[in-house]
Amino acid sequence: MIGSERATVADLAARDVFWKVRADARRADVDMGRRADVFPYFVPVGSALGREVIVDGRPRLMFGSNNYLGLADDDRVIESARDAVARYGSGCTGSRLMNGTLELHLELEAELAAWMRREAALVFTAGYLANLATLATLCGPDDVIVGDARNHASIEDGAKLSGARVVTVRHNDLDQLAAKLGRLDAPALVVWDSVFSMEGDAVDLDRLLEITRAAGARTLIDEAHSLGVLGPHGAGVAAACELPPDLVMGTFSKSLASCGGVIAGDRDVIEFLRVHARPFVFTASAVPAAVAATLAAIRIAIAEPWRATRARSTAVRLADGLRAAGYPVTGGEAAIVGVRVQDEWAATLAWRSLMDAGIYVNVGVYPAVPRGDAILRLSTTAQHTDADIDHCIDTFTKLVPR
Ligand SMILES: Cc1ncc(COP(=O)(O)O)c(C=O)c1O
Repeated sequence: MIGSERATVADLAARDVFWKVRADARRADVDMGRRADVFPYFVPVGSALGREVIVDGRPRLMFGSNNYLGLADDDRVIESARDAVARYGSGCTGSRLMNGTLELHLELEAELAAWMRREAALVFTAGYLANLATLATLCGPDDVIVGDARNHASIEDGAKLSGARVVTVRHNDLDQLAAKLGRLDAPALVVWDSVFSMEGDAVDLDRLLEITRAAGARTLIDEAHSLGVLGPHGAGVAAACELPPDLVMGTFSKSLASCGGVIAGDRDVIEFLRVHARPFVFTASAVPAAVAATLAAIRIAIAEPWRATRARSTAVRLADGLRAAGYPVTGGEAAIVGVRVQDEWAATLAWRSLMDAGIYVNVGVYPAVPRGDAILRLSTTAQHTDADIDHCIDTFTKLVPR
């Protein structure tokens, strides 16, 4: 009976996309996690994002955000968003190409280009779309996209959409990058995260640029986790380079306390993307509140450099403390600290105990990291005090097995 029921489900799954989902083993994992109250995703937060957040009516110290500069609950950022809604309304109801470009979008693009030290910048509705659009528009089947094995999913997806040949390089292995570039016989775009979102480690950008230039390849560097935190006035690692990467991607959803993304580079390439990038042209423009909040956050990031310094020094304190306590720690170069747990269930159970003890962290499992390489991802912000960091280390060492 059971055998024949299974055969029926398998048969349905072969013919119907809904039944394929119903038969998918990953669904059972999620259901089991939810039933056991150890599902670490979609946790509803009942407050603004600050040093602490409210979960289930209780305050938790927040080590699981990307709010590196601590601006998501800043009065000046909130006031700017409010003013923009009052002046421009709640939404633009159209794409940038048609009716969705406000003066505010152009003001943000000009400020981003100046901050990031590039000729021009293009603002997208999400960082994900910025990567997707750039790769899919600039590259095609005659090109090669070369990237780190742990690059963000938006880079992977953009590469797939482009139809280009994809060459993957071992994580931060620049010798392998040089070797693989040396064997290519087609135009190449090298794409790399400057700081990796889960592990928090950084690439040696100067060396990467030396290698790519020697090979005659172009570069796109994803600064999602370095914009605001690293580089001159927080403008990202690329802004410090004498000869910068060809293109730089940034997002507003982390240090800049908002939502949206940017590609900055040479004007002619940026203007081509503005007209031809489908994930730019065929989606609605960023809402006024998001654009104004981003502008306010950039101005504060520049005027208050202590925020970037503090986000980095708290990360170093956290990484050093956890390392000294015997954990396999990664990152700490920007504001992300990873603790490798490897086993997914062990990572999830550690998350539950930490949350119960008032410490909010993130769990990275496949596909955010390779299979069997689960990680607890902690991030610091300019708002954390030394006492917060020490309390986190103390709680962590009591609850999480080495
Ligand atoms: C490295 C990296 N690139 C791109 C993105 C996409 O940015 P957004 O969240 O703004 O869509 C993220 C966000 O998680 C990221 O970590």
